[in-house]
Amino acid sequence: MSQNKTVNRRVVLKARPRGAPIAADFQTEQGNVPTPADGQVLLRTLYLSLDPYMRGRMSDGPSYAAPVAIGDVMVGGTVSRVEASRHSDFKVGDRVLGFAGWQDYALSDGKGLSALSLDEPHPSRALGVLGMPGFTAYMGLLDIGQPVAGETVVVAAASGPVGSVVGQIAKIKGCTVVGIAGGAEKCRYVMDELGFDFCVDHHAADLPARLAAACPKGIDVYFENVGGAVFDAVLPLLNTKARIPVCGLIAAYNAIALPPGPDRLGLLAGTLLRKRIKMQGFIVFDDYAPRWREFASAMGTWVKENRVKVREDIVFGLENAPEAFIGLLEGKNFGKLVIQLARD
Ligand SMILES: NC(=O)c1ccc[n+]([C@@H]2O[C@H](COP(=O)([O-])OP(=O)(O)OC[C@H]3O[C@@H](n4cnc5c(N)ncnc54)[C@H](OP(=O)(O)O)[C@@H]3O)[C@@H](O)[C@H]2O)c1
Repeated sequence: MSQNKTVNRRVVLKARPRGAPIAADFQTEQGNVPTPADGQVLLRTLYLSLDPYMRGRMSDGPSYAAPVAIGDVMVGGTVSRVEASRHSDFKVGDRVLGFAGWQDYALSDGKGLSALSLDEPHPSRALGVLGMPGFTAYMGLLDIGQPVAGETVVVAAASGPVGSVVGQIAKIKGCTVVGIAGGAEKCRYVMDELGFDFCVDHHAADLPARLAAACPKGIDVYFENVGGAVFDAVLPLLNTKARIPVCGLIAAYNAIALPPGPDRLGLLAGTLLRKRIKMQGFIVFDDYAPRWREFASAMGTWVKENRVKVREDIVFGLENAPEAFIGLLEGKNFGKLVIQLARD
């Protein structure tokens, strides 16, 4: 792990991927550690969050956010230590949440930085359960999904930072919760550790039949994280008045064309109409920023009380970020994927 105080390593976007990203789409560059001007702070990245949305930033197709330009540092949420400060709000040694991207050091004018307590023993959780992914799970499930005790809630990518929190909140709300995850080990974790009622392995054969068996009363809330074959299995099981928060479609993030087979739009629209289903997309900070405090308070309490359990997949070293990110899109992570760049 780099502890170099003079060299700044930066992972930049070298090429836009066609299909799944490959190592050659990234390039690591070295430069001098920058010096803060008046009103700026120098940040040392401690933890970098790797998240599926970064695949979208590597492309220049239509999106809710601008792409990373070729040659620019890859974007990303970070927990950093203030190394030098010429800003009245921050002093050396402070720990901050920000958006410094895939690099060892960054300058900031303080905008978008928020202070983190130095007493927090797990600062990386500010990038996961207590940060953007946790907020996403909380708002998508409670505001759009509106689960009612006794209903059946289904979520895929169930061992990940969004899905694991969706399922655990749904359990707190008294629902029956069925997860979908890749592989027996993840499924075991989702049931035995997180307390989901059941978990279906989407790598095993005959997903539609096994999901149907796991949801004998149908599905009232389907929290959409993946799309693809999982959504095909969910669609016939949806109950009248079901709700579908559309959070992500990771199965298609590397797609370069529509999937083969018959056009399923008619089937989808017909199902929504007949069953009066609500299906609504959301982008968490664009839609819900004013409710951050409410989330932070509720989730902070649940985590403290161990009612929401946390699993992190921490990879050491910035140099391993590209491979870890490529793996995230293939389901190789097990829990919230975070790169640790330096000792805290
Ligand atoms: N709308 C928003 O504001 C917002 C904010 C944050 C995240 N999101 C979205 O929420 C979703 C979950 O994010 P996360 O950070 O919690 O990710 P994550 O669970 O850490 O990682 C993604 C997981 O997706 C699963 N996956 C990948 N390809 C799949 C496929 N073809 N079929 C089924 N599952 C597949 C894998 O888990 P398995 O091995 O278990 O299959 C993989 O580990 C993503 O779609 C993300 O883009 C949206």
